Amino acid sequence: MKITVINGTEKKGVTYRLKEMFLEAFEGEEITEFYLPRDCPGFCAGCTQCFLTRQDLCKDAQYVQKIEKAMVEADLLVFTSPSYVMHATGAMKAMLDHFGYRWMPHRPMSEMFGKRAVIITQCLGAGAKSTARDIRDSLSWWGVSYIRECKYKLMSEISWDKIPAKKREAISGSIRKCSAKMRSIDYNKRARTGFMVKMKFYMVRMLQTGLGKDNPEYTDYKYWKSNGWIDKVRPWKA
Ligand SMILES: Cc1cc2nc3c(=O)[nH]c(=O)nc-3n(C[C@H](O)[C@H](O)[C@H](O)COP(=O)(O)O)c2cc1C
Repeated sequence: MKITVINGTEKKGVTYRLKEMFLEAFEGEEITEFYLPRDCPGFCAGCTQCFLTRQDLCKDAQYVQKIEKAMVEADLLVFTSPSYVMHATGAMKAMLDHFGYRWMPHRPMSEMFGKRAVIITQCLGAGAKSTARDIRDSLSWWGVSYIRECKYKLMSEISWDKIPAKKREAISGSIRKCSAKMRSIDYNKRARTGFMVKMKFYMVRMLQTGLGKDNPEYTDYKYWKSNGWIDKVRPWKA
């Protein structure tokens, strides 16, 4: 199986350690890792070329398209980020901004509807929930329904070795349990698309149908039409 990991920091700290523990159960599998900001250093400049014309016109296309290819090919997506001021790292947000054109109201990929994803995050005291939410929002609007969150509060120290042993054991046990659960899945079967993602799809389908009536040449409408989604085809049945 193939796993694509997007690390929201280049630091080999607590988040890195938790991600390594998670991946232990997948030893021998094909794992592609991206470290941010190194592997997607540019910010979205708001040129809107990706929305209006083509994503390969983005000034950062060489980075973005490499990440997209790895995500499309993966059976499992893993996103990691420590909580910075109660949210995902700026590097993670900058990378997610580049995938605005893959949100449901634009041009979501049918492959995403059958994917599984895990979010690994931790904070000192508060912010893990909102950090996971930052990443979950994008995943869900890309069409992913199966999203597991591994969230932790360190509560004492931000350096792994200084965290009390009992706390370290609890966190390690929890992440390994999540990893074992994800390992036991049959990845030949696509994940089921949930109610909320289907709702988003049908709302946007209505929107795209209207936009297409006004302008049949509209980029996003043409994409929806060519996928058959304005008609009877559904991305979760691909
Ligand atoms: C810039 C910055 C902002 C942070 N903001 C928060 C925060 O809002 N809430 C919190 O509980 N911890 C916060 N932390 C602690 C991190 O969430 C995390 O526990 C710590 O950086 C250790 O993780 P790491 O080794 O993976 O970087 C912050 C750390 C940094 C460097």
